[in-house]
Amino acid sequence: MDSSIVLFGPPGAGKGTQAGRIVETTGKPQVSTGDMLRAAVAEGTELGKIAKVHMESGGLVPDEVIIGLIKERIKDSDAEGGLLFDGFPRTIPQAEALEKIAPVSMVIAIYVNDESVVERICGRFTCAACGEVYHDVFRPCLVESVCDSCGSSDFTRRADDSEETVRARLSAYHEQTSPLESWYDAKGLLHRIDGNHGIDDVALSIANLFV
Ligand code: AP5
Repeated sequence: MDSSIVLFGPPGAGKGTQAGRIVETTGKPQVSTGDMLRAAVAEGTELGKIAKVHMESGGLVPDEVIIGLIKERIKDSDAEGGLLFDGFPRTIPQAEALEKIAPVSMVIAIYVNDESVVERICGRFTCAACGEVYHDVFRPCLVESVCDSCGSSDFTRRADDSEETVRARLSAYHEQTSPLESWYDAKGLLHRIDGNHGIDDVALSIANLFV
């Protein structure tokens, strides 16, 4: 398996927004553990039932569940060229498990301050048909209520995007995920990106990492 990239940062940092552009640049498929878990919740699987409780409270899903998901995902044939992990790993045990099963060549860490996170997440909505991510103020549809990408008018808002849950997700990030920053920095893999700028400016900073 070729080396993979990790996209790291607090909730609402813009990981999903930037992931599509990184996929275009690198050809590495995006693997979002959040999307995988939401699919399992929607399907009502046993895994989904476990995940739902943690996701609704803003806490992290147990490491063994997440590591099991990733071990299965990297068996797919499209993982051969490496993957773009979005929102994984989120704890040091997850990073240690990843290290044993897939090489990582780069960690892109997007930083955004906590109040911007709340503002961004509380204004987020997503096209139910194609998954394109929008924001009421920062990334509205070009034509009101029509998806720029696929033309659908069916949009959703995530159940865990209330202000109360976002603040719990931020606490989980600061307590359990942010220690990964120094863990990856010590390995010389961490690239810091200031995410407190517009979407295109952040994309440019990330694109410069690949020049
Ligand atoms: P997950 O789905 O991964 O959520 P998250 O990490 O909290 O991140 P988000 O998807 O909310 O934000 P994002 O950084 O992708 O931002 P986006 O681009 O959408 O995880 C959900 C839950 O699943 C977790 O809480 C946990 O319970 C569980 N989970 C998942 N992975 C796990 C793991 N590995 N271990 C344990 N549990 C796990 O942007 C947000 C908004 O801002 C959008 O509206 C966008 O349009 C706007 N925006 C983006 N960039 C900018 C910008 N530069 N300026 C202005 N607005 C912007």
